[in-house]
Order: sequence, then structure tokens, then C-alpha cells
Amino acid sequence: MGTEKNIVLFGFMGTGKSAIARLLGERLDRPVVEMDEVIEEQEGMTISRLFMEKGEAYFRNRERELVGELSQAGGKIIATGGGVILNPDNIRELKRNGVLICLTASPEVILKRVRDEVHRPLLEGGDRLEMIRKILEERRLLYDRIDHQIDTSDMTVEQVVEEIFTMAN
Ligand code: S3P
Repeated sequence: MGTEKNIVLFGFMGTGKSAIARLLGERLDRPVVEMDEVIEEQEGMTISRLFMEKGEAYFRNRERELVGELSQAGGKIIATGGGVILNPDNIRELKRNGVLICLTASPEVILKRVRDEVHRPLLEGGDRLEMIRKILEERRLLYDRIDHQIDTSDMTVEQVVEEIFTMAN
């Protein structure tokens, strides 16, 4: 599985990036980097709060810097934030040392998976299903550009991990 390469998971929120990254990390005995968590730690606040206090542009710049650092070397499992695909430079850099995989799911499944969560700044203050549909549509071409695609709507975390093994070998 491109032994030294990073395995980089993209996809909208609720597509399973974090859970799948964790299991892949265990199976392959590799470090897992959850980009949102790293930024929360570095900034000393949650992503929601960061959006409120410093704005989305600031957060995107922090993502951009972190991508630069993570792309320097391989060997990791990286769960990106759902908006990392918004900047094509992020994709280009992560590709240097990485196998890129995009996880997808239907809007209904995404809604079910994020329903009880409050830390989703992009889905605040409106009909969530509508907002999910709208953002997915806006980003569809960007997500589609990732080499490998897996629709996780009807799959367990185990099944997705199996598929990634097959895909990358
Ligand atoms: C975002 C997704 C979130 C987080 C931030 C913005 C997005 O990450 O980075 O709220 O723009 O789609 P997850 O996809 O891990 O929820």
C-alpha cells in the first residue's frame, strides 16, 4: 500500500473520515493525524469557536499551513477537514506523498450521522438537510477530483477499511 505514502481521507463531514482513519491507523500501526484536532490543540479552542472568533478565512489559512507540514513526509493516516478540498494547492501538496481517497455519503445519511452534533459551524442556523445538499452541490466537482472514491452510505467502518486495503494493494 504505497508503503511510505500517507493515506489521506477527504470528504464532507459525516462521511466517516475520523472513524475510518482511526481503524486504518490501528490495522496498519501508523500514526493518525486528525487535522481539525491538531488545529484545535494549536489554537486552544474548538473549531466552532475559532470560526466565531477569528473567522473562516483564518481557519482555512491554518489548514493550509498544516497541509504544508503534513505533506513533507509519508507514513501517516490523515483525516482532513471537509473543506480542505476548497484549495487546489492542498490537493496538489498532499498528493506528493499521499494516496488520496474521498469518502462520500448521501445527504440523508450525512444528516443522520451529524444530527446530534453541535460542533458543525457550517450547518448552524437553518434546515440542516438543505444546507448539506447545498454545500455538497457547491463542492461536488472538487470532491470528484480525488482519485479514489468510496460511497460509505451503506457500509460499516470495517467494510470501508477493507475496501481501502483492496484499493491500495
Ligand atoms: C468543515 C468541516 C469540518 C471542519 C470545519 C469546516 C467543512 O471538518 O473542518 O467545521 O468546511 O466542510 P469535518 O469534515 O471533519 O467535520
